Amino acid sequence: MNETLERWGTRRAFILAVTGAAVGLGNIWRFPYITGENGGAVFLLLYVAFVLLLGLPMMMAEILVGRAGRRSPMQSIGHLAAQAGASRHWRWLGLFGAFTVFCILSFYSVVSGWSIEFLVASINGDFVGRSAAEIGAGFDAFLADPRRLTFNHTLFLVMTILVVAAGVTKGLEKLNNLLMPMLYALLLVLAGYAATTEGFGPALSWLFLPDVSAVTPLVMLQAMGHAFFTLAVGACALMAYGAYMPDHQSLPRAAAAVAVLDVAVALLAGIAIFSVVFAQGMDPGEGPGLMFVTLPVAFAELPGGPLWLSLFFLLLLLATWTSSINLAEPMVATLQGWGLSRGLASAAVGISVWGLGMLSVLSFSTLAETRVLFGMNPFELVSTIPPEIFLPLGGLLIAVFAAWVMPEQEALRALDAGPNGFRFWRALLRWVSIPLTLVVLGAGLI
Ligand code: PHE
Repeated sequence: MNETLERWGTRRAFILAVTGAAVGLGNIWRFPYITGENGGAVFLLLYVAFVLLLGLPMMMAEILVGRAGRRSPMQSIGHLAAQAGASRHWRWLGLFGAFTVFCILSFYSVVSGWSIEFLVASINGDFVGRSAAEIGAGFDAFLADPRRLTFNHTLFLVMTILVVAAGVTKGLEKLNNLLMPMLYALLLVLAGYAATTEGFGPALSWLFLPDVSAVTPLVMLQAMGHAFFTLAVGACALMAYGAYMPDHQSLPRAAAAVAVLDVAVALLAGIAIFSVVFAQGMDPGEGPGLMFVTLPVAFAELPGGPLWLSLFFLLLLLATWTSSINLAEPMVATLQGWGLSRGLASAAVGISVWGLGMLSVLSFSTLAETRVLFGMNPFELVSTIPPEIFLPLGGLLIAVFAAWVMPEQEALRALDAGPNGFRFWRALLRWVSIPLTLVVLGAGLI
């Protein structure tokens, strides 16, 4: 075991770190717009089902491998495979995870940069007295300006890489303690405000009354991908955090707490955003701009609007920051495992992610009509295929590794839930999560 490895100071710190990784753009930006494009309640229902049946057991599997290995994802998997007498090739799974987060972080940083721009704009009071249409047009003009997008993307990535280079456990612990309670409080205020608007009723029925006939394999694939994305499962990113998990802590309890907190944020954000959408007669299927257009509209009507809006974008920025730190960690840990210093590894990751991210930046102007693959431009491609295909595939392989390959004793110990808890978890993984993921992935791909 690597004794020099850092550790989260307390159980609470670990839960907060994983929640920080989970709660981010996925809940506040991606969940509402994907749900909007996929008909509302059906999507929500499928997503919650997938969180429970696949996301949660697989999240435990992923953290467990890191905790049992106590090394970088690639080395942890390789070590456990060797211990079990299985093929060392399993360790390439760690590299696949690093590739997945590489793609995800590239667009994640660009979109997080939008919240920097919106934070500054709301502090300046730029949205005051503007109509929904004007705010929408302003957003389009912003997207079409590669210089502003580049500036914000760069700034956000520098913020991320600085923390990662310093070592994640210490800085994050302090940040999370403050950040998470504030984020919930603010979302509650927003949802409370939403309840007073006339869009609230329609938003609730749209979100919670499913039309089951709208279920298609593609909707299922998207809901499954989103469950992985929002829980941060399938890219070995949580595995990297699991390596720093304290010794005496029940993994199922920690994972369940994270899943509840994560789904709660998505629901609150969804209620707030769709109430505005319906109150203003906007289109729920508006796409990636949904949150950035609806929330300024909503806050413009609240007393003290610019202040609340600024606070919201500040918290969003901090929430995406803790997620992007987690996204960078497996890449940095992998390079470090290959002998690079932490500083150098962080710099290399920062520069290469920045480069790929520039393709997303340009996808809103110069490259908007450039179809790279499947009729998608670079931004559409990296924000669709890695979350919807790579994460489920990675999660599937990690689950197979944890449930069938790694030494049983190690898994039992790392789960820390007693023999019965262990058997239940493993049966769930073997007979429900793994087959279900295979079916949905297969059906969706066809
Ligand atoms: N879960 C994060 C979010 O919802 C994104 C993420 C995906 C983070 C994969 C880490 C790994 O914003």
